[in-house]
Amino acid sequence: MSQPRRVENLHTDKGKVPIYATGVVAQPWADYGAGDHAVWRELYERQRRLLVGRACDAFLAAQDAMGMTPERIPKFAELNPLLRAATGWELVGVEGLLPELDFFEHLAHRRFPVTWWIRRPDQVDYIEEPDLFHDLFGHVPLLMDPMFADYMQAYGRGGVKAHAIGADALVNLTRLYWYTVEFGLIRQADGLRIYGSGIVSSSGESIHSLESPAPNRIGFDMERIMRTRYRIDSYQKTYFVIDSFEQLMEATRPDFTPLYARLATQDSYPAGAVLAGDRVLQRGSGAGWASDGDV
Ligand code: PHE
Ligand code: FE
Repeated sequence: MSQPRRVENLHTDKGKVPIYATGVVAQPWADYGAGDHAVWRELYERQRRLLVGRACDAFLAAQDAMGMTPERIPKFAELNPLLRAATGWELVGVEGLLPELDFFEHLAHRRFPVTWWIRRPDQVDYIEEPDLFHDLFGHVPLLMDPMFADYMQAYGRGGVKAHAIGADALVNLTRLYWYTVEFGLIRQADGLRIYGSGIVSSSGESIHSLESPAPNRIGFDMERIMRTRYRIDSYQKTYFVIDSFEQLMEATRPDFTPLYARLATQDSYPAGAVLAGDRVLQRGSGAGWASDGDV
């Protein structure tokens, strides 16, 4: 696939003041081939089938409302008017993972960076870095939800702040992102559901996170999460369960500056630990867990 055009100063304030938009590229939509669209279709159909009854209602409804379909890779330019109208967010294309501060700046301005390229057919079951399917199918739908949309912007602002405070603060904040935005579960009136993007974009983990006896499922506790290491090369050993997006919003509203200072003096917990104060929904059997490799 050819390299996309680089767009300079995509976001300008009435044509005068350039606003930070580092690393943004135009989605080279015409360059996707039949094979790319076929990968999208295969993953989309498989995940939608799995996610009905597993993903939270807000996620499924938002995906429908955005008009994402299996037929072809969506155009960011077609999704953006809907997103903008719903919550004021917009998608920007990127080559892949951004430097942390750039990522936070985008979120703080309600721009969600979406990797423009999609995985190869031999990577449908596993890919190490986020691609278009993970970013678009996994992350974007919930940006249609007003509460979650606000949470993501608040997170971006919090990220800019944590970046200025230092590396330890960023570690704490990244754990929060990992165990909520990427791998979070939510208790819905009719049962446990998925809202984390890392789960909804993985067929194996969509089942594992809800149905396997191996992992712990523990009630959301922000400070506890900020001290908990995680897995980047396997399913999570622990999932944290929120009651609502409002709970997430309320818990993260206070200024984290004193919290970061306190956490800097405390040890972290292993990814699979169950602690005395935990609200345990399921104590994992630990089947299949690696004994090392938490990050
Ligand atoms: N309240 C946090 C702070 O003061 C920012 C934040 C908001 C972080 C939402 C995560 C999620 O740093
Ligand atoms: Fe992600």
